[in-house]
Amino acid sequence: MVVLVTGANGQLGQSLQSIAENHPAIEFVFCDSKKLDITDYDNVNAVFDEFVPQYCINAAAYTAVDKAESESNKAYAINVLGAQNLAKICKINNTVLLHVSTDFVFDGTKTSPYTESDEPNPTGVYGKTKLEGELAIQELWEKHFIIRTSWVYSQFANNFMKTMVRLGSERDSLSVVNDQIGTPTNAVDLAEALIKIISCHTELDSTSNFGIYNFSNEGQCSWFDFAQKIFEINNIKIDLQPIPTSSYPTPAKRPAYSVLDKSKIKDIFAIEIENWETSLRKV
Ligand SMILES: NC(=O)c1ccc[n+]([C@@H]2O[C@H](COP(=O)([O-])OP(=O)(O)OC[C@H]3O[C@@H](n4cnc5c(N)ncnc54)[C@H](OP(=O)(O)O)[C@@H]3O)[C@@H](O)[C@H]2O)c1
Repeated sequence: MVVLVTGANGQLGQSLQSIAENHPAIEFVFCDSKKLDITDYDNVNAVFDEFVPQYCINAAAYTAVDKAESESNKAYAINVLGAQNLAKICKINNTVLLHVSTDFVFDGTKTSPYTESDEPNPTGVYGKTKLEGELAIQELWEKHFIIRTSWVYSQFANNFMKTMVRLGSERDSLSVVNDQIGTPTNAVDLAEALIKIISCHTELDSTSNFGIYNFSNEGQCSWFDFAQKIFEINNIKIDLQPIPTSSYPTPAKRPAYSVLDKSKIKDIFAIEIENWETSLRKV
């Protein structure tokens, strides 16, 4: 079975590469943005002709949440037109598309975990383009799994955990917001969940399970709690202060609450999900 991965040099792409050898039944084709630019239809077409994948994991995205506010054309090209190209070419090749999306499709006004059927209402350009990408895929190609995730971190590429570890070695004190609540997601746990979906789908040979799924680690915390745990685990001594979002203005408005309900992915694919603190300790 051939599984083609786009955006292979990102956090999720590298996490998939790190677990590939645990799945010898899968022939992975990892494509970075040089080999496969998802905004270029002809490029996508040529790569699919070359490798003829049964599954495509789209780990490519424009993920710079604040920069997106001033680079909306670039964010749109990658997150919407890129998703559209993949859906069209997956349809031509009868390839199942696994597309990764975000908790930022929600406005964060709920106070209980978001389910897949909750109404999206993104507050910034990044979330809007990710939602439009989801809608394009849903319209163009029924054989899709859209996996929404949140607060992704890993040992790879850039992320909050690595920034905290770096700042911990540079600073004596730090302020982090404590009024945005969500759940950190270890990118390797997300990678394993995507492979589990493919394995279950192949075994069941079922078409009825296509659709949207939530995936993050279990539990919830604020960015302050997340930072505190990162410092504790790494034995970093720093004066960490909680602050409200109003004291840390950013170009993009973020959801105040974006915990995801994972019942659907756990029920359908029998995925066991680790608590965020346990998983953070492993990284
Ligand atoms: N990071 C988070 O906290 C978070 C939270 C929720 C959801 N997500 C979603 O999770 C998925 C994976 O995120 P991530 O954290 O792994 O992202 P990431 O580390 O920013 O990686 C994204 C990758 O996409 C590639 N890319 C950009 N434009 C491309 C193009 N036109 N064609 C092909 N590849 C392109 C980038 O390559 P270059 O570096 O070469 O440009 C990069 O390697 C994304 O869909 C994201 O929206 C992430």
